[in-house]
Amino acid sequence: ISLKPFNTFGIEAKAEYFARANTIEKILYSINFASYNKLPILIIGGGSNILLTRNIEGVVVNPTIQGIQLQRDKPDSYIFRVGAGVVWDKFVEFAVQNNLGGVENLSHIPGCVGAAPIQNIGAYGVEAKDTIVKVEGIDIASRKTVEFTNADCKFGYRDSVFKNELKGKVIITYVWIELSKKPQFVLDYGNLVDEVKKYGDTNLQNIRKAVIAIRSSKLPDPVEIGNAGSFFKNPVVSASKYESLAAEYPDIRGFHISDDEYKVPAGWLIEKAGWKGKRLGNCGVHDKQALVLVNFGGASGIEIHELAQKIQQSVKEKFGIHLEPEVNVL
Ligand code: EPU
Repeated sequence: ISLKPFNTFGIEAKAEYFARANTIEKILYSINFASYNKLPILIIGGGSNILLTRNIEGVVVNPTIQGIQLQRDKPDSYIFRVGAGVVWDKFVEFAVQNNLGGVENLSHIPGCVGAAPIQNIGAYGVEAKDTIVKVEGIDIASRKTVEFTNADCKFGYRDSVFKNELKGKVIITYVWIELSKKPQFVLDYGNLVDEVKKYGDTNLQNIRKAVIAIRSSKLPDPVEIGNAGSFFKNPVVSASKYESLAAEYPDIRGFHISDDEYKVPAGWLIEKAGWKGKRLGNCGVHDKQALVLVNFGGASGIEIHELAQKIQQSVKEKFGIHLEPEVNVL
């Protein structure tokens, strides 16, 4: 089966076996099938954070468990148990329509709920970890149900236990998400505050509108042009490194994260290295946001990976900074 419809880069690659599983039983069935036939398992959700550079041997499992179930009604919040296959933005829409706060800044992030904890999706000053209470999954080796508290998930910037110790070992089935009945708005990122004002009052609906407007002005729609959002993470550098960069480039916009650390926008580094809007063959660097690599149509995963490596090399040469991919290169 072709995986082209299952990756937002729109890359042609094949899976030996493909299993859509909308229940825990079907996921277990796929695991049994793989283990009986001694085949590896790869989990693909919305496919919005992967770069396929080869055909996939074994079984690709696509968990599509649906449902948003209310689990707890607390004085100031509700806790929902959300199926891994629910489209993330549908959940955000549900939250905003019901006047529940916590995920409005994460509007329009592509992908499914089950992927949110894996890389701790984040945008406009909010991260999924701020609302995730618990993650349910299936341990592939033992086929047992496993649960992870927020602390067990070891969340970090675009990072969690599911990308490290548990990589490829657990299939996430449900995510428990807590939404506030008394939303506290997070508006201190970039020009978000001004964008919200354009729509009137500061409320969840208008924050969602503003975030969607900012995102659509910078990020290409994967339906029109293949991409996986930010290709690299924003690197963290020492304060002394940052000061020397700032002396040379007064327009740099770093984020102070601790006494001796700054996060530098990778998009800025890539732009300064001359890559913004550049095209190589069928792929290139988005002209409105240099952190996004795009497939103009017909690019192979290898081609995009080579472009990524060239960018890494040139940023390394110019700034002495290593860019780490945010996208999972397979
Ligand atoms: N910048 C440039 N040139 C560019 C792109 C950005 O100079 O081509 C500068 C901007 O001017 C700004 C700074 O870099 O000063 C930050 O830019 P932006 O607000 O667009 O955010 P980002 O750091 O590039 C991160 C996330 C995005 C998220 C936005 C908003 C990562 C790897 N990316 O991007 O997440 O939407 O912040 O919060 O942390 C994703 O993960 O796929 C993603 C899109």
